Amino acid sequence: MDGTTRERLSQIQGVPLLEPVVKYWARVEKFQASNEDLLITTYPKAGTTWTQEVVDSILNEGDVEKCKRAPTQVRMPFLEMTAPDGSSSGITKLEVMDPPRVIKTHLPIQLVPRSFWDAGCKVIYMARNPKDTVVSYYHFDRMHLYQPEPGPWPQYLEKFMKGQLGWGSWYDHVKGYWRERHNKKILYILYEDMKEDPVREITRIAQFLERQLSKSTIEHIVQMTAFSVMRENPMANYSTIPDTIFDRAASEFMRKGEVGDWKNHFSAEEDAAFEEHYRKIMSDCPIPIRFTI
Ligand code: A3P
Repeated sequence: MDGTTRERLSQIQGVPLLEPVVKYWARVEKFQASNEDLLITTYPKAGTTWTQEVVDSILNEGDVEKCKRAPTQVRMPFLEMTAPDGSSSGITKLEVMDPPRVIKTHLPIQLVPRSFWDAGCKVIYMARNPKDTVVSYYHFDRMHLYQPEPGPWPQYLEKFMKGQLGWGSWYDHVKGYWRERHNKKILYILYEDMKEDPVREITRIAQFLERQLSKSTIEHIVQMTAFSVMRENPMANYSTIPDTIFDRAASEFMRKGEVGDWKNHFSAEEDAAFEEHYRKIMSDCPIPIRFTI
């Protein structure tokens, strides 16, 4: 992959996605999930990597060495992601893995390949408040040389509010899974809840995965998956991604891991406009999202 070439966005069913994802979309659409597979799904920057590490730690009963067997993207492939020439992709990785597989996606619910629903797969959805999400996404796009150029922050925030960033509207994304959570096997978790009480939320995830873990194992997993620990773990911090793709001089992947960093980025005017827009657009879907804890 030529890390200096930023990709453009194209669309599938009106949802903006990176051009290579669109180019090789047919492979994603016809992916065959097994009912043992688990899908971890998020809007970008919602805490995907954290959720992945928690899930892998639960499935391996807190065994640190097993969880360090390979980097995140190898242990739990990214379904729709593909190299520009299609030579390596989430699908090519998944095709050589046996179920049960843990699969990451950022696809909105309407674009999740049908086989996941037909097979009755479990899905863990994590949502994060949109102000911290857009700040995190902005810094990510500055450093990820495969993502479209973010441009200046004020325009970036506008694009987020209009659903013009990669993977589309945050609002549609969080609502789509929320509305289906009782009709499908979806566990809906919130980043802020997990920050506030990781024992409670990790216990919920373990129960959803039907894993009986002792209190001490849960507490051990809380420690293993704390931001400060994951940041130092080369198998969980994306340090294996070359500098030609991640420009670490621009930003780090494991950046802050906090609730409320948006206060350092939003001007008072931006916040007021965002709040008004948010209230209007989310009024038909009362997800208990918090902007501070
Ligand atoms: P920040 O940029 O706000 O620091 P994703 O994995 O979906 O790309 O999300 C990345 C965001 O999750 C980043 O947010 C990252 O720092 C944060 N993150 C990663 N691991 C975390 C952890 N163990 N606890 C809390 N936040 C974490």
